[in-house]
Amino acid sequence: MTSFEIRQKFLKFFQDRGHAVIPSAPLVPENDPTTLFTGSGMQPLIPYLLGQSHPLGKRLVNSQKCFRAEDIEEVGDNRHTTFFEMLGNWSFGDYWKEEQLSWFLEFLTDEVHIKKEGLAVSCFEGDPSLNLPPDNESAEIWKKLGIPKERIYFYGAKKNWWSRSGVPANMPAGEPGGPDSEVFFEFTLVPHDKKYGDACHPNCDCGRFMEIGNSVFMEYKKNEDGTFEKLKQRNVDFGGGLERITAAANDDPDVFRIDVFAKMKSALTEPDKNNPRKLRIILDHLRASVFLIADEVRPSNKGQGYVLRRLLRRMGFHYFDLFSHRAIDTDPRLSNAILALGITYQTAYPEMYKRIAGIPTHVTDELEKFEFSLEAGLREFKKLSAKGKISGQEAFALFSTHGFPYEMAFELAEEQGIEIDESEFELEMKKHQDLSRTASAGTFKGGLADSSEKTTRLHTAHHLLLKALQLVLGSGVKQRGSNITQERLRMDFSYEAKMTDEQKKEAERIVNEKIAEDLPVIRNEMALEDAEKLHAEHEFGAKYPARVSVYSVGPKGATPENPQFEKAFSIEFCGGPHVTHTGVIGKFRIKKEEAVGAGIRRVRGVVK
Ligand code: SER
Repeated sequence: MTSFEIRQKFLKFFQDRGHAVIPSAPLVPENDPTTLFTGSGMQPLIPYLLGQSHPLGKRLVNSQKCFRAEDIEEVGDNRHTTFFEMLGNWSFGDYWKEEQLSWFLEFLTDEVHIKKEGLAVSCFEGDPSLNLPPDNESAEIWKKLGIPKERIYFYGAKKNWWSRSGVPANMPAGEPGGPDSEVFFEFTLVPHDKKYGDACHPNCDCGRFMEIGNSVFMEYKKNEDGTFEKLKQRNVDFGGGLERITAAANDDPDVFRIDVFAKMKSALTEPDKNNPRKLRIILDHLRASVFLIADEVRPSNKGQGYVLRRLLRRMGFHYFDLFSHRAIDTDPRLSNAILALGITYQTAYPEMYKRIAGIPTHVTDELEKFEFSLEAGLREFKKLSAKGKISGQEAFALFSTHGFPYEMAFELAEEQGIEIDESEFELEMKKHQDLSRTASAGTFKGGLADSSEKTTRLHTAHHLLLKALQLVLGSGVKQRGSNITQERLRMDFSYEAKMTDEQKKEAERIVNEKIAEDLPVIRNEMALEDAEKLHAEHEFGAKYPARVSVYSVGPKGATPENPQFEKAFSIEFCGGPHVTHTGVIGKFRIKKEEAVGAGIRRVRGVVK
């Protein structure tokens, strides 16, 4: 069965049950400063889950373009993709568990013809510390629907709780979430791999089970004090990966063998170039890049553009390696693959197809630039490898300065019997990931235009301002996005009301007072859990590596060796750069304060 048929069947199935079809939102969220990309179907619907009424009613269905940057490194196996389509249906305070679970099962068995015996399901086991009960109701419904008891598994919040920010502890106040019930397909032809544990189960990573749908029962909202209360309405938020459902329908665990990749694959030709991992990376990264470019993302050094650049370059590396073709401007293969992709999605995503003709130039321009740095990187690699050993710092500089994909450095080193100091490299990489993860979460590194002196002064002012806002408006204020140029800082933060003139004045006064005190600004690296213990400010929903960089401001006399965190004015997870002492910042002024979304305010400030 093709994904095209399944998408159609899904929309029709739910339309027949009173759902209105809505179009896919763009991959770059509109009016949502908190994330770089749309990563699930519910993201654009949060206001309606919270109670706002939707013009098309209480039942919606769609197929949403999604992109998850955090999966880039996983791509290459048979199931991970960065771009995917999520089939979704929603009930805003309308139907509930009984209908949802039985409809999804009916869809899978009657429409997609997946055998019930091939399915396993999971339910939320509850979290007594948060007063969240186990979801026995869903388990009972599954039993009634004929799923045997031994195919119903219970897991904790890490697996069976859904909110946009993840587990309950990571959710900011005001965010909706709830227990979920996932459906898995078991590929009986894939043997369990004992590397992942003695017994296989739905959430085992060996590849025998694949999650194909997730029904979230969104009935809670997080309170300021960390407890949960029931929302005014009980919502259903269902999401199912279209590519995965198709793979299950065909009983073939390799999602890259489904219909949507076929035209692209044949445009790339040379099927004898048989390296499945490389081919999958090319297919995934090219498809994702095309959809991102169609949604107006361009390769650059920040935000969404940085992620696109990474995708294209990682793809380019494998492309050049697999097809050993340089001179990308005269190689028609990629353009053909892009056009083939456009045709594949012509009816499902006409807005992408309309722009397809202009896309190859963006891809090849970036790859031409990359070819250049790739050559430079290869030359540098040759020089370094002449010593027979490459230090971790040197390997990292190849990646960070020359844009040379580090996997390639490792692969080449192995081929040539050259040693790279891996642990030193990983240390450097961790520092970098701290930076780029924060970028994916839409915070500083995504938002810092450059590291000029003016931008740096504004960056430190930004830390002071966040703390000042918390002092004036309450500790519930959390940063939800940021952008800093040489001219001004911009901060999005969670707060329900418009700031009064007095509140703005008071925030300004506090920032200027801390500037006048000329406090030291100190950077420390520490284990993630130590930073959390310090209650260092961080972006909700962002994933951080095991070691993080933390900036603290004040007290007077603090040094990196003796940071005196307990007396610091502000402590934040941050990769910098910052001024060394606040006295050099200048005079701070708030220029504007406005709303940018439900419960999110935006403030702009300058320093003179
Ligand atoms: N929001 C849930 C998910 O992304 C279900 O749609 O899995």
